[in-house]
Amino acid sequence: MSTALAFEIRDSAIAGKGAFAIRPITKGERLIEYTGERISHPVADARYDDESMQEHHTFLFSVTSRTVIDASRGGNEARFINHSCDPNCETEIEKGRVYIFALRDIPVGEELNYDYAYERSGDETAEDERRYKCLCGATRCLGSIMEPKATYLKRTRAEAAKRAAKKRQRAQESKGTPRSTSRATRGPARKK
Ligand SMILES: C[S@@+](CC[C@H](N)C(=O)[O-])C[C@H]1O[C@@H](n2cnc3c(N)ncnc32)[C@H](O)[C@@H]1O
Ligand SMILES: [Zn+2]
Repeated sequence: MSTALAFEIRDSAIAGKGAFAIRPITKGERLIEYTGERISHPVADARYDDESMQEHHTFLFSVTSRTVIDASRGGNEARFINHSCDPNCETEIEKGRVYIFALRDIPVGEELNYDYAYERSGDETAEDERRYKCLCGATRCLGSIMEPKATYLKRTRAEAAKRAAKKRQRAQESKGTPRSTSRATRGPARKK
């Protein structure tokens, strides 16, 4: 049995087509799954090359560091949901599947959107900034459909700290007996 969608697809003032509520939507409602072909990041990169695109336009959703969903193949209506810097929906990943939920009550006629939060690589050119310019029109629009630079810095610093901690742990383990074990052998057990 298929469930009727709470939205329809039509022209959007933001970009191309968009998804618009056709009945009142309640906060927390699960609206649709983001479906499509599951591919690797290298395959996605080979399929869609930013440099050769005049305007950035893809139906890709990055699920993990290994998997991307390409909704241009086998995708459903979820692929038309545009980005907003002040979104009324959010995405959640459950066991590798991506779902779109309402962040608040949404009246009939309102366009649905979520924060794409495209990850920056840190070496974006002025041309990239232009290509990813946000047209969401929100009062709080941040100007880009990529994550804010501050978020990129925070994320990459946290990732670097995690890598350094792992490296220290590996170095510690390769020295032989872990400290905690050698301490235990010098502890109460010996006094018996
Ligand atoms: C998944 S599609 C969304 C549907 C798209 N409007 C369409 O008609 O195919 C993602 C693309 O829509 C455009 N887009 C979505 N939200 C946007 C926004 N806030 N500002 C500018 N372009 C946006 C970008 O070209 C992006 O690559
Ligand atoms: Zn915006």
